[in-house]
Amino acid sequence: MTAAREPLRRLKGDTADLHQQAELHVRILDADATLTDYRHYLAAMLGYHAPLEDLLQAHAGLGAAGFDAPRRRRAPMLATDLLALGDDPRGVPQCTSLPPVTSLARALGVAYVLEGSTLGGRYILAKLPPPLERLRGHATAFLVGYGPETGSHWRAFAAIVARELTTRAAEDEAVAGARETFVRLIDWLAPRTRAAGGSLREAS
Ligand code: HEM
Repeated sequence: MTAAREPLRRLKGDTADLHQQAELHVRILDADATLTDYRHYLAAMLGYHAPLEDLLQAHAGLGAAGFDAPRRRRAPMLATDLLALGDDPRGVPQCTSLPPVTSLARALGVAYVLEGSTLGGRYILAKLPPPLERLRGHATAFLVGYGPETGSHWRAFAAIVARELTTRAAEDEAVAGARETFVRLIDWLAPRTRAAGGSLREAS
């Protein structure tokens, strides 16, 4: 088996099509995005992140590889943002069709999607349309993510990936995990974030 030279680069390249699709289901950068769109986005992301972060935290191999799942959790940031907007995060529906978090390589593929999205969060935060700009610093903890530590967290994750995905088979497995994470997120977001208006529970 050949050694995997740049597994992170491959994860990016082999999921680029799905990243593009996922972007289509995040309406908060639309010029006419509303506060309701933003609340739906937060609720939908919480319903996906919370149970998936539970799975990552429960994966012993991931912890042993140096992935500090409890410290990397971002579901609490989503809950904080919803509370800041007057919504109760406890009522948010949770996704039950999650990507499997089985082998370490799979788990790393899943974690890649959640961790990588911290890089995009900063971009989204900077580009919020006028109707949502006033939320900055008030209900944007999730988009801020790790803040000034974003770069160091990402490099630490990249080091784990480079250390653990050392065969082509492991890389393939991680790519499959990452792709499934995107696909299931897209399926989860599609009915929840497209239409403005209605309640957070309408698509549960
Ligand atoms: C409107 C929606 C989105 C926009 C505009 C966006 C934008 C971006 C940008 C600009 C980057 C590159 C940042 C950098 O390299 O510094 C990025 C990276 C990334 N985003 Fe998104 N993103 C969006 C939604 C999402 C979603 C919903 C997910 C999945 C949870 C996601 C997952 C990722 C991942 C995994 C990377 C890392 C790519 C790499 O390997 O470098 N993104 N995004």
